[in-house]
Amino acid sequence: MIILAIETSCDETAVAVSRDGREILAEEIFSQVDLHALYGGVVPEIASRNHIQVLTKLVDGVLEKAGLMKRDLDAMAVTYAPGLIGALLVGVNFAKSAAYALGIPLIPVHHIHGHIAANYIAYPELKPPFLCTVVSGGHSQLVDVRNYRDLSIIGSTRDDAAGECFDKVARVLGLGYPGGRALDDLAQGGNDKAYDLPRANVDGSPLDMSFSGLKTAVLNLIHNAEQKGETLDKKGLAASFAAAISDALVPRTIQAAQELGYKHIAVAGGVAANSRIRRDMERAASKAGCSLYLPPLSLCGDNAAMIACQAFFEGKPGILEQLDLNAYATMPL
Ligand code: KG4
Ligand code: ZN
Repeated sequence: MIILAIETSCDETAVAVSRDGREILAEEIFSQVDLHALYGGVVPEIASRNHIQVLTKLVDGVLEKAGLMKRDLDAMAVTYAPGLIGALLVGVNFAKSAAYALGIPLIPVHHIHGHIAANYIAYPELKPPFLCTVVSGGHSQLVDVRNYRDLSIIGSTRDDAAGECFDKVARVLGLGYPGGRALDDLAQGGNDKAYDLPRANVDGSPLDMSFSGLKTAVLNLIHNAEQKGETLDKKGLAASFAAAISDALVPRTIQAAQELGYKHIAVAGGVAANSRIRRDMERAASKAGCSLYLPPLSLCGDNAAMIACQAFFEGKPGILEQLDLNAYATMPL
């Protein structure tokens, strides 16, 4: 089954075409990061306009790369939730029109289901059930992946997402937007014990996390140092911060897998690219006797290959019932 997928939930316009889910035939990603970096964050209106401008070209480019014609497509897939509503609507309307014009089914995909599916592309042998820790700009969740379409959250952040904290701290350190990657680079070779940062627990919910106290502690530390004219050990701070985030995620991931009786653990989302988290996950999973699945860096951030892959597992719905598909800024898993 050949599926063409579109992902426009935030500031990446992405298109991919896959065969039977796990095999990616071609993909294109247009990142708008430079446009939004000017403003220190994503400007929804600018994101929507740019999706409109580049989407048709990307679709043509992907088909050409894959050596396919439009008539070769068996289905269209699109991210319909969660994300920036205006940005999502661009992809949803494009996909609906294309599916209607071509007379093929349209498969809606939840963005987070897509992130998890990135692992099916990287690891053809991976099959549910497994535990997946999803860490992105907007989500930090421990997900019980019982089956391809049957997922539930068993732990999550009560406030900020891990990626949000990386971006905020990076911005205050003058590393630009989005700063997760730059903060990761800065942390290389830094002393992860340079600063004693808080690790929060949620009373009565051991699998839930809280990052806002950590974020505030780091921001206060930076501002206080500036006011007192003290020199910050920026490398040490970046390393200490990454260690604090990792300390929240990794032990809970192992505990969640053990509680569910799973021996397979996956990680997904933009923050899954973080070198400290990857290293700690590898060590902890091996100690717990679990197999660990980490997507390659190219599949951690937003892309359409993961949407095409999940769409395959969503099944093949009828054509007409999908034409009233809407986009949603929020949507439970
Ligand atoms: O999954 P994603 O591309 O978009 C969302 O769905 O949110 O995740 C983006 C997030 C941003 O917060 C970005 O700073 C973070 O992933 N990120 C990283 C790294 N690479 C990207 N955070 C920490 N370390 C990295 N190497
Ligand atoms: Zn994402």
